[in-house]
Amino acid sequence: MKIGFIGAGKVGTAMGIFFKQNNLTLSGYVSRRETSSQGAAKATDAAVFFDLPSLVSASDVIFITTGDDQISTVINQLIQTACLTGHHTLVHTSGALSTDLFDPILASGGGVCSLHPIMSFADPITASLNLKQTVFTLEGNDKGLADAQRILKLTDNRYFVIDRHNKVLYHAAACILSNYLVTLIDSGFELLKSTGIANDEITRAFMPLITATLGNIEKSGTVNALTGPLVRGDENTIGKHIEAIKTQTPEFLALYQTMGLATIDMIKDKRIDGETYDHLKNHLK
Ligand SMILES: NC(=O)c1ccc[n+]([C@@H]2O[C@H](COP(=O)([O-])OP(=O)(O)OC[C@H]3O[C@@H](n4cnc5c(N)ncnc54)[C@H](OP(=O)(O)O)[C@@H]3O)[C@@H](O)[C@H]2O)c1
Repeated sequence: MKIGFIGAGKVGTAMGIFFKQNNLTLSGYVSRRETSSQGAAKATDAAVFFDLPSLVSASDVIFITTGDDQISTVINQLIQTACLTGHHTLVHTSGALSTDLFDPILASGGGVCSLHPIMSFADPITASLNLKQTVFTLEGNDKGLADAQRILKLTDNRYFVIDRHNKVLYHAAACILSNYLVTLIDSGFELLKSTGIANDEITRAFMPLITATLGNIEKSGTVNALTGPLVRGDENTIGKHIEAIKTQTPEFLALYQTMGLATIDMIKDKRIDGETYDHLKNHLK
């Protein structure tokens, strides 16, 4: 099985390096700029292609690793050049998009798959190392899934398959877990700054708390990992938090209330009873 890449950016290059390290065979790269395909080809000891039909005819599985907005453009170019056959499988790595995008080429009879690495790709070398522990989310037709599963078996990566209709919700969840976690931590840091604690002290003092909390989630699950005034049913403390935020940093009030309400919903009847839930809800609303 020969794997080719259209789009020699962070994901295309990192996956190429990772595949190569796992003894998969690469055909090579074609990209918008020749310098990009040359860089990725050099890093993976693969070939540079100058047009889509040559890359396609040298490959069995073709990864489209352009930015999300360019995937449809590439698909249209593939249709116009009529280079795909039933033998090929087309893969994209977008988290938000599904294989719906590939509908116009299904007539070729080939495989289609969306294969999303649950990982953030900053630079190709670090990302290729991270890929060893990365879990993938797949959806596609039978041939597409079979080819993707074959690749992930060879690289020894875990994966799960989801329904294509759930892809957007899946991506929204990943966005909460990765991006909004950053926002939440930044909001806590901002509140601390307004108490006069220096920036570098905040990071040093609170990162151990954050990482310990993440460790507790991994060990015991979200509901059991929760500590603090809500799970203790300490409504006076919650009332005081709300007064202080209202007076000193009102821009964070809505976030505090929304997160508080989501938290009591999470622990209702598991760690707090109905009466405590009602009291806390009155404070938070
Ligand atoms: N970055 C992440 O953390 C991450 C994580 C999971 C999934 N993904 C998904 O992986 C895909 C690639 O993301 P990325 O971060 O690797 O993007 P990227 O670094 O911006 O790379 C995209 C590459 O595609 C090339 N390109 C753009 N239009 C093209 C076209 N029409 N034909 C051929 N090549 C074209 C560009 O090439 P030139 O350099 O030649 O201009 C660019 O290097 C996206 O679908 C993204 O959603 C990304």
